[in-house]
Amino acid sequence: MSARVTKAVIPAAGLGTRFLPATKATPKEMLPVVDKPAIQYVVEEAARAGLDDVLVVIGRNKSSLEDHFDRAYELEDKLEGDDGKRELLDRVRDSTRLATVHYVRQQDPRGLGHAVSCAERHVGREPFAVLLGDDLIDERDELLSRMIEVQAEHGGCVLALMEVPREQISLYGCASVETTATDGVVRITGLVEKPAVDEAPSNLALIGRYVLAPEIFDALAETAPGRGGEIQITDAIARLTDPAVAGGPVHGVVFRGRRYDTGDKGEYLRAIVQIASDRADLGPQFRSWLADFAATRLPLGDPDEPIRP
Ligand code: G1P
Repeated sequence: MSARVTKAVIPAAGLGTRFLPATKATPKEMLPVVDKPAIQYVVEEAARAGLDDVLVVIGRNKSSLEDHFDRAYELEDKLEGDDGKRELLDRVRDSTRLATVHYVRQQDPRGLGHAVSCAERHVGREPFAVLLGDDLIDERDELLSRMIEVQAEHGGCVLALMEVPREQISLYGCASVETTATDGVVRITGLVEKPAVDEAPSNLALIGRYVLAPEIFDALAETAPGRGGEIQITDAIARLTDPAVAGGPVHGVVFRGRRYDTGDKGEYLRAIVQIASDRADLGPQFRSWLADFAATRLPLGDPDEPIRP
């Protein structure tokens, strides 16, 4: 049996070009989703699955990210002195209590696979999880802990998969699979990064959660740049689907819960609306405004008219 998974790796070295100019001086991972930076949801998810050793792979311009998971003494002192601000103080401290967060710098932006390979020294020869910050998984739906269970049972690697409409498959890594005796768990026999719709082997997409065997580092070292001229994690995992290569088998857990994509602007806006609607503190008022907005404003659709307060 392989070692227990205890570490999570979060690649956060991307340039965030889709969100410029917001990401000129602020990392994309620090953009707020309602009132928390996107990356905090991901660290919370790792911590809920028992992974309290988190390595963030950072690029340039990422100091605000480090500050976020560090203590903020002046701010905390100020809030502490004000009885009415206790709850806010707790929320400020939450981000520092979640996990031990470590950082490693990705010197060259050579792709997601290259970012994961920067974690090798920290991870060592143990299985570990990779969580991509663009995919947020609703905390009410179980995914990572299930993947860790499946990895403990089978060894090798376990990837999160989700069925997507066929015309969207070319936005994702895509898996060829065989069923197993367990509902919701498949054996992955092949992977292709962002295939053309008519060449995709299925409509099962990789959704940014991976539990990987340490042999992935060997596979990454041998993986040539792929799609977009970048070293792709999908290509390296594909090597491990070969039964002759150590690091397999590769299984998939098919996720049927709520996932929010913050990767592009439209999806990011939808994620905020969905998460705010579900929040106990904001939801009731926000939903009622939203219903009114949708009923009265959207059918007219005049983008030049100012939005009513
Ligand atoms: C990355 C991966 C892709 C995966 C996707 C999930 O792509 O390369 O295989 O399906 O994340 O969000 P990106 O969206 O960063 O281009």
